[in-house]
Amino acid sequence: MNIDELTKDGSLEDKLHKQKKLIKDENSRTIFNEVFDKATITAIHELSRKKFFEEIEFIISTGKEGNVFRCNSKNNYYAIKIFKVDTSDFKHMTQYIKGDERFKEVRKEKLEIIKLWTKKEFRNLEDFTKAKIRVPLPIAWNRNCLVMEFIGKNGEAAPRAKEKPFNNPKEKYTLLCEYIAKMLNTKLIHADLSEYNILNNDEELVIIDVGQAVTTMHPNAKEFFQRDVMNMSKYFAKQGVDTSYDKMYQKIKQLTEKLK
Ligand SMILES: Nc1ncnc2c1ncn2[C@@H]1O[C@H](COP(=O)(O)OP(=O)(O)OP(=O)(O)O)[C@@H](O)[C@H]1O
Ligand SMILES: [Mg+2]
Repeated sequence: MNIDELTKDGSLEDKLHKQKKLIKDENSRTIFNEVFDKATITAIHELSRKKFFEEIEFIISTGKEGNVFRCNSKNNYYAIKIFKVDTSDFKHMTQYIKGDERFKEVRKEKLEIIKLWTKKEFRNLEDFTKAKIRVPLPIAWNRNCLVMEFIGKNGEAAPRAKEKPFNNPKEKYTLLCEYIAKMLNTKLIHADLSEYNILNNDEELVIIDVGQAVTTMHPNAKEFFQRDVMNMSKYFAKQGVDTSYDKMYQKIKQLTEKLK
């Protein structure tokens, strides 16, 4: 849908009503109502006015806490992640904000927590990118909306490692260990690593969903790190790589020294 058409002239209600009618599919209609409250539309409009993108085209993924859409500009696709303000799990989010010294503000209001969460995912994408860990490039954020590089080929979003395992798991296992070592060297922990948050972009490994990533100073940092290593060692062992929790842990430890 074109953002300008939604907000240009006439009342927003009218425009919204028309847009809703256009969406035939029942599921999409529910998503539309949940995601595009007025303030979110304004936030999207601001981002599009600043020329980060022109159109939101279609939904790539629906989730508990947010939805991801493909959007476009003249020559490019982007992904926009829009967090739900009403139904997100705030307790869960707060756990990863508190204790991260980069985010000292402790908020109680829903909207403020979501804004902080959006900003945190953006900041994490920046920090990971600086550390040369392959994540989508961050483009912009506003309120509960995060614009980032679209990961995919020929306009098709890349599948997750869960659905499309890599052709060469051993090589990707080593690469992931390097990425985790680089994270540790920059004092970051992803904290939700799994085959659901790794995309297989035509055999390029891209880590996504970095909102919950915390610094190594976080009181639960060790537990989060161990969980990441546990998940990933299990996944790669299933793919035939000779690994286990202990082996992966040791490999990451060695790599942290080597990559310093
Ligand atoms: N930059 C991107 N490019 C292409 N697809 C993306 C991008 N970011 C996310 N996706 C798609 O959207 C899905 C959900 O994104 P993400 O994992 O960041 O959100 P989430 O909050 O974990 O959602 P969920 O509750 O579904 O797990 C991903 O599994 C992926 O398919
Ligand atoms: Mg995810």
